Amino acid sequence: MAAQGLQLGRLRLGVNIDHVATIRNARGGEHPDPVRAARIAADAGADGITAHLREDRRHIADEDITRLIEEIDLPLNLEMAATEEMLEIALRHKPNACCIVPEHREERTTEGGLDAASQHNHLAPYVSDLKEAGIRVSLFIEAHPVQIAVAKALRVDIVEFHTGSYADATHAGDEALREKEFARLVDAGRAAHEAGLEVHYGHGLTFDTVSPIAAIPQAMELNIGHFIIGEAIFIGLEAAILRMRDLMDEART
Ligand code: PXP
Repeated sequence: MAAQGLQLGRLRLGVNIDHVATIRNARGGEHPDPVRAARIAADAGADGITAHLREDRRHIADEDITRLIEEIDLPLNLEMAATEEMLEIALRHKPNACCIVPEHREERTTEGGLDAASQHNHLAPYVSDLKEAGIRVSLFIEAHPVQIAVAKALRVDIVEFHTGSYADATHAGDEALREKEFARLVDAGRAAHEAGLEVHYGHGLTFDTVSPIAAIPQAMELNIGHFIIGEAIFIGLEAAILRMRDLMDEART
């Protein structure tokens, strides 16, 4: 499936450690420590750490962000809603990248991509303030041509396509829907790359769903959290990351 003229480079793996903090917060206290998880991820060959500081601090807390910046050598991808509070935190910590995500209080997780098209005017000052501070800016969007066009107009560096519908359709065994969702992700990768945007994918990816996404030639990075942390309960965090890494590498060859 290699696109003409595109070299299949090494695909980066960003490990999202939010749900280590979810387990910690279930009891309060300090255990398990998401920064320790980040250290293990680094040793296992992760290329970056992703953490979502939510308005309600249901998992990652402010102190975790401080420690991730101070103690972990890997680039941090800070997921954040476009709010004044989050902008101030991002500008203070200057992570490698900020991924702007939609956030709704009642949702269990980030259920869909950002509707960049309807929020262009709201997003524009956040994108420019972050970029001016030297932070790479990513938008977590649906794989849709209009969203890609708006991301380009906003001059972000990266788009991350929400893979949740593809992953859900795969796990539900709905082959027709899986094919449709996958084709949408492939087309979006091509269009975003042609628009000069770096292409990432993430959400809901597992050992069973990662390979086709990893084989999309324009993909530069996958961000994966919930499944890796869940699987770590059974096989250990290092082994879960190494297995994910292997599947990604196999898909690229
Ligand atoms: N990428 C983004 C932008 C996300 O918001 C999330 C979930 O927080 C992920 C990737 C990782 O999704 P999952 O935890 O389902 O692997």
